[in-house]
Amino acid sequence: MHIKIAKDYMEMSKVAADLVESILRKRPGLVLGLATGSTPLGLYKELVQRHKAGLDFSKVTTFNLDEYYGLSPDHPASYHYYMGEHLFEHINVDRARTHIPNGANADAVQECKNYEAKIKAAGGIDLQILGIGNNGHIGFNEPGAPFGGTAGLVDLAEETIEANARFFERQEDVPRQALSMGIKSIMQCAQIVLLANGANKADAIAKAVEGPVTEALPASVLQLHPNCTFIIDEAAAQKLTGV
Ligand code: F6R
Repeated sequence: MHIKIAKDYMEMSKVAADLVESILRKRPGLVLGLATGSTPLGLYKELVQRHKAGLDFSKVTTFNLDEYYGLSPDHPASYHYYMGEHLFEHINVDRARTHIPNGANADAVQECKNYEAKIKAAGGIDLQILGIGNNGHIGFNEPGAPFGGTAGLVDLAEETIEANARFFERQEDVPRQALSMGIKSIMQCAQIVLLANGANKADAIAKAVEGPVTEALPASVLQLHPNCTFIIDEAAAQKLTGV
């Protein structure tokens, strides 16, 4: 696991964008795994700027980590909506090659099976962008999620519902479940970049990097990944002792 510490959120986002850009320039048909939430917004802004300056996404395939279960793609709080608003509408990606689990599919098991099959058919994910929850979750794999898990319907932890209430009018509106790639699906990605900023992520980062590898702290599994980089700001790094 490599750790890169950036001065602040803006620098974190630029360092991450540099990495995505350099990989994309070498591999125009990149299969890119994407996350939502607040953390990658700066990265997406940077990528949009770089697209305006000529960076080409026309051959890229994308797979998002997760989607709220029960929200249709046109719901303003859905991750479909988020991705359109913050990235896809502003770059020249072929929308037919963008994939996000469909939270409106009544058959969640089949939806997840199909999703895993699509990732496989694309040859696997070359580069996966991750955020991290305050409780150490990655994707919506909450503490206790099995390391052997593939995509599935998961229950959101109470603290995740609270943390994500800011995207909804009322806390009661936050869905209680999500479709998420599993830990095993994430570990199969060839390269992983985890982004984190802010003091509220410092505990989770310290445990993920320096704590025991345990299902109680899902991101700790990344210690076992052969090509994983954490790009984090100083506030998120403040509880690391070994750097
Ligand atoms: C989002 C996702 C989540 C978030 C995490 C951090 O697709 O998979 O694991 O990355 O909840 O969210 P923010 O960035 O909003 O703090």
